[in-house]
Amino acid sequence: MATPTLLDVSALRDEFPALRQHVQGRPLVYLDSAATAQRPRVVIDAVADFYRHDNANVHRGMYELARRATDRYEAARAAVARFLNVADVSEIVFTRGTTEAVNLVASSWGGANLQPGDEIQLSILELHSNIVPWQLVAQRTGARLRYLDIDEEGRLRLDQLDALLTARTKIVALAHVSNALGTINPVREICERAHGVGARVLVDGAQGAPHLKLDLQALGCDFYCLSGHKMCGPMGIGALWARRELLEAMPPYHGGGEMIDVVELERSTYAPPPQKFEAGTPNVVGAIGLGTAIEFLEGIGHEALWAHEQTLVQHGLDRLAEVPGLHLFGPRVAGARTAVFSFRLEGVHPHDAATILDAEGIAVRAGHHCTQPLMRRLGVPATTRASCYLYNTPEDIDHLVQGLDVVGGIFG
Ligand code: ALA
Repeated sequence: MATPTLLDVSALRDEFPALRQHVQGRPLVYLDSAATAQRPRVVIDAVADFYRHDNANVHRGMYELARRATDRYEAARAAVARFLNVADVSEIVFTRGTTEAVNLVASSWGGANLQPGDEIQLSILELHSNIVPWQLVAQRTGARLRYLDIDEEGRLRLDQLDALLTARTKIVALAHVSNALGTINPVREICERAHGVGARVLVDGAQGAPHLKLDLQALGCDFYCLSGHKMCGPMGIGALWARRELLEAMPPYHGGGEMIDVVELERSTYAPPPQKFEAGTPNVVGAIGLGTAIEFLEGIGHEALWAHEQTLVQHGLDRLAEVPGLHLFGPRVAGARTAVFSFRLEGVHPHDAATILDAEGIAVRAGHHCTQPLMRRLGVPATTRASCYLYNTPEDIDHLVQGLDVVGGIFG
């Protein structure tokens, strides 16, 4: 097997203006990319460039700027389709992010397809945005929620699946990668097993799309959701992919704007997908920024990104194991996880740890990470989480470990 090209992280970091700053009098060590990634200059420039030169609404105007805006917006859709290895570009719906994409599916597909007694299969490691939308539709339809458990290393208990997946299961909704633990879930196998009982599968790809090589034709899911801001794109933009026949059968989620065909006083007919699901003026510049972020990631190449990520995983596993009193959550082996390190320090509240790290210039997240059921399952109210992306270096993890020494020193 050919050795993947190594990432020139030092040159890459120069592309991210926000990384070149001091905070609290120290060089910024940004370890919160699971919450939001930093943006490269090309994305920032693409956003500014659109507003400077091409700013117009899309799919409405008959003039030059409107054509340019529409072309750039639709080119961004094509970039998302390419990134996901989806053949039909019209299967890509722009949304505000993963949360809106899950809400769209839960409300539209779930509202039309779920009946009392049907089951929605989730897992205990889901983010609130892949739990609450299903609770809302369960309350509307009488469907029930079921939860797949995790083992001690935060991996899904696939041994429970046979008992959980039955003819009552109508949809399985799962994270591709856990935002709190970094676990990479075996989505392909779960899709096969879910399809075996006739269930649909939605994958929350918010943490998967930035890190994993995606080929939705091979993955076999029915819905895939992603967020632009976690993969170097702007905030407030994301995408839903769904099979065309599903999108065609699903009722609209929001009404208005260019999602219509004919509007009469009492009823309307709708545009074909994806426009049917893009009511109102879309986030055109967000989509263009996301398309640019995708080109940026494609330019680096997935193999180099993945090799770098796994170097960070191994370095993090090794270095954090040296910290006294640190309990790391999630899989213990590289390959099974991304470079997201959620931990507890004995005798230290996660918020205190994060506050002290901040004083050292190190940005991490502390809290429940929008996964309260998972925190309860782990038996903790919160964790401290350091999450890496392509611009992080093993030295950033070394800084974290030094910062944790300071925390340890303060708390004795
Ligand atoms: N889902 C984001 C996180 O994990 C907000 O921090």
